[in-house]
Amino acid sequence: MTETATLTFRDQQVEIPAVVGSENEIGLDLGAAKLRDHSGLVTLDTGFKHTASTQSAITYLDGANGILRYRGYSIEDLADHCSFLEVCYLLLKGELPNAEELDEFRTTLNQHTLLHEDLRQFFKAFPKDAHPMGILSASMAALSTFYQDGDVNDPKAVELDVIRLLAKMPTVAGFAYKRSQGQPFIYPDNKLRYTANFMRMMFSFPTEDWIHDEDICDALDALLILHADHEQNCSTSTVRLVGSGHAPLYACISAGVAALWGSRHGGANQRVLNQLDQIHSEGGNVEKMVQKAKDKNDPFRLMGFGHRVYKNFDPRANILRKKANVVLEKLGIDDPLLDIAVRLEETALKDDYFIERKLFPNVDFYSGIIYRALGIPTDMMTVMFAMGRLSGWIAHWLEMHDQHQPIGRPRQIYTGPNLRQFVPIDQR
Ligand code: ACO
Repeated sequence: MTETATLTFRDQQVEIPAVVGSENEIGLDLGAAKLRDHSGLVTLDTGFKHTASTQSAITYLDGANGILRYRGYSIEDLADHCSFLEVCYLLLKGELPNAEELDEFRTTLNQHTLLHEDLRQFFKAFPKDAHPMGILSASMAALSTFYQDGDVNDPKAVELDVIRLLAKMPTVAGFAYKRSQGQPFIYPDNKLRYTANFMRMMFSFPTEDWIHDEDICDALDALLILHADHEQNCSTSTVRLVGSGHAPLYACISAGVAALWGSRHGGANQRVLNQLDQIHSEGGNVEKMVQKAKDKNDPFRLMGFGHRVYKNFDPRANILRKKANVVLEKLGIDDPLLDIAVRLEETALKDDYFIERKLFPNVDFYSGIIYRALGIPTDMMTVMFAMGRLSGWIAHWLEMHDQHQPIGRPRQIYTGPNLRQFVPIDQR
């Protein structure tokens, strides 16, 4: 029997059925209760801190206990044992691929890694110092003008769009970087694995052979896996919301990239590095930065700290802290910023301000240090995040369409003026 909660307001009572998830999370289903139809009431939850926007079978996140699972598999297992493409397949299709399925998936992707030559011309039109997230968002939207067959109700057309996006985003990212450096674009080499192909497009030159390093590619696979999905975060909710209006998939992904760009979301990884750099250049005083973050008259925040959902620890940050050490050691890099990051974390975690507000390092805190060790420039770091998150965005977009969700259209509580007498312009 379905449990219900009773909402009493003035002389009205509304029975609200509970929905229980597979991990026993409980939500009150205001839609099923037809709250607004029956009572005229809406709920107000600015920032959606207490609101589930959907039921979803993709990712399970327990913020209190630091648990993150994709399709039931722990993030720790996936980061240790899988390639990024295996995890993409898992997110999109719900099951891990066997060797044959993975091979077929990779072969299909490889048929779509090139960009249309006319799209390549776009990169030359962007200013040389354009932020690569702007280029990425614009390029994703531009793909919809090259591939106009993408009827969102046609599964075959959607499947092709999904493949194109996954195949082309690393090429777009590589071209955006090359444009910023004034270097020739490097075309994809489909003999290479996904991460190696991307690194080659970033760092090779037509004049030299390029030798890829398996350790670097493994580290990159792990980073992309850790970023691949995080249930209804800001950018994923954006993709779902734009998609709910039946916009083409490319346009939804472009919107997701834009949402990710912000400093409170994926853009934090770039800013973490900037802050660590600043501390380093000012003599390594981490306490000063912590004091600044605590000052309520200063809008400054410690980047890479705090999370809407994790209130104990971010499991991705725990994995990345260990990986940062391993990667730096393997590459023989002695990065003073890692030492500053460790000291900053220690100082903040002992501080009452951070303890009371349950502010812990998030995924962005250590990812930048690894990206830096791999040679990824700071302003490309959020693009790396987008490359990982793309698979999650698409999985959610597909799920939303499969669930035939209605258009997303929140309500509001109006606080503006009441009806006013109109005054013609010559009398104002
Ligand atoms: N530094 C200093 N104070 C902080 C920080 C921080 N990084 N994060 C939160 N706080 C404080 C707030 O000022 C607020 O204090 P108050 O209660 O005295 O007013 C309290 O902690 C709660 O903060 P909110 O902004 O209400 O928490 P919310 O859940 O809305 O925000 C967010 C979460 C956006 C991640 C926030 O912690 C933040 O801005 N962090 C820095 C940016 C960052 O690292 N973003 C990446 C997040 S992970 C990701 O998107 C992949």
